Amino acid sequence: MSTTLGRPSPPRPPQPASRVDAQGAWAGVVPTIATPGTTLRALVLADAESLFALLTTEPVGRFILPAPHTVEDFGRFIDWTHRQQEAGRHLCFGIVPPDQDTAVGVIQIRRETSDCSTAEWGFVLSERYWGTGLFMASAELVLTFLFETAGIHRLEARTIVDNGRASGALQKLGAVREGFLRHGFYRNGEYLDQVLWSILPGDRRPITTSVPTATTLH
Ligand SMILES: CC(C)(COP(=O)(O)OP(=O)(O)OC[C@H]1O[C@@H](n2cnc3c(N)ncnc32)[C@H](O)[C@@H]1OP(=O)(O)O)[C@@H](O)C(=O)NCCC(=O)NCCS
Repeated sequence: MSTTLGRPSPPRPPQPASRVDAQGAWAGVVPTIATPGTTLRALVLADAESLFALLTTEPVGRFILPAPHTVEDFGRFIDWTHRQQEAGRHLCFGIVPPDQDTAVGVIQIRRETSDCSTAEWGFVLSERYWGTGLFMASAELVLTFLFETAGIHRLEARTIVDNGRASGALQKLGAVREGFLRHGFYRNGEYLDQVLWSILPGDRRPITTSVPTATTLH
C-alpha cells in the first residue's frame, strides 16, 4: 500500500493521444481555414486599417472592452496576438468574408486550465456583416478546430447581460447559459453584470449557413 504525503492531487481528466497531439495546434501560428462562406486566418498588419475602420463604431463597441484607438494601435494589437500565439496559450483568427481580402472581425481564444481542456473565447464582427451568417460560419469552423484538433473540451464565453446579439448567436451555436456573474465586467466607470456560457462538444447544433455578403450601409 502506498503512502500519500500531503494532499492527493485531484484526478486528471482523460488525456487522449489527440490531446497530446493537440499541443501542436497551439504552437506558433493559427492555421488558415477556408470554406465558401468564410476564411479564418492569422491577423496580418495589413488588417489594421480595416479593423480600425470597422470595429471602432459605437454599436460594435457597446458591450466589449474599448478597441484600440488608432490604426497604429491596431497594428500593436496584431503584433501582440502573434506574441501570445508564440507563447502557446492564445489563438486569434481574423474573419475574412468571401468578398474581401482583409479581416472584418476577430475571434480570440485563450486556454484556461493547466490541462488545457478549457478555453474562453471572445468575438467581434463589423456591423456590416451582422445577421449575414458570417459569424455563424466562422464560429462553426472555430468550434470544429478547437474540439477536434486543439484538444478543447469546454469552451466558455462571458457576455454582458444586455448583449442580445452575442447571447442569441451563442444560443444558436448550442451554448448553455450556466451562471450570472454579478458586476463581472468593469467598463467606462461602471460595473456590469455578465452571463457565463459554455459549449461542450455534444452541445453543438447543426447550423445551416449560406455564403454571406455584406449589407451596404449608406
Ligand atoms: C456577437 C456578434 C459577433 C454576433 O454576430 P451576428 O452576425 O450579429 O450574429 P447572428 O445575427 O448570427 O446571431 C444573433 C442572433 O441574436 C438575435 N438577437 C438580436 N438581438 C437580440 C436580443 N436583444 N435578444 C436576443 N437575441 C437577439 C438575432 O436575431 C440573431 O438570431 P437569429 O439569426 O435567429 O435572428 C456580433 O453581433 C458582434 O460583433 N457584436 C459586437 C461585439 C460583441 O458584442 N461581441 C461579443 C462579446 S462576448
